[in-house]
Amino acid sequence: MEFMDCLRGRRSVREFKDKKVEHEVIERVVYGASFAPSWKNTQTARYIIIENEEIINDIAINCMMGFELNIRTIKNAPVLVVVTTVSGRSGFERDGSFTTSKGDRWEMFDAGVAAQCFCLAAYNEGLGTVIMGIFDEEALARSVGVPEGQSVSAIIAIGYPEQQPVMPKRKNVEELISYR
Ligand SMILES: Cc1cc2nc3c(=O)[nH]c(=O)nc-3n(C[C@H](O)[C@H](O)[C@H](O)COP(=O)(O)O)c2cc1C
Repeated sequence: MEFMDCLRGRRSVREFKDKKVEHEVIERVVYGASFAPSWKNTQTARYIIIENEEIINDIAINCMMGFELNIRTIKNAPVLVVVTTVSGRSGFERDGSFTTSKGDRWEMFDAGVAAQCFCLAAYNEGLGTVIMGIFDEEALARSVGVPEGQSVSAIIAIGYPEQQPVMPKRKNVEELISYR
């Protein structure tokens, strides 16, 4: 796939075919995401793959703060990926102090970079994804069993797309850019 086509063509997909995603394919996607840049190459992003229908249902019912769109998306998804980060590394010096005034916010920044690499690698495999940020973090960590020392950044639903959504309008380059 041409790189610009990959950037332009990826959409947030919220309806999926009733088809499993092979582990081999998921692992290729995570392999792609492993090339994401990160704070001092700390590579703190982790991917918890949820295929168990009971856990997926529990997440939909108990972890979405009643947000209907996400409940529907999750119930429909064959696989969920909970993106976590190993805490206390990104943004930190070796002695535990913050390197910059942004404190530990670099951890979420790294997770975002990794998540987008994940979504683009998935699109390149013919898969659809949607990143979800509306969830109850504590309830989700409990439901999934997030390991000690990690925190949840986002959930990504992934599967073979049942829809090709229209691209939401994008700002022109002129609106985004400024020179000094
Ligand atoms: C940090 C973040 C959080 C998001 N949270 C949600 C969400 O909770 N539910 C949802 O349906 N979409 C969510 N989205 C998807 C956005 O709505 C979507 O990316 C945006 O509308 C642009 O559409 P596109 O991805 O098809 O280009 C999220 C995206 C990002 C990057």
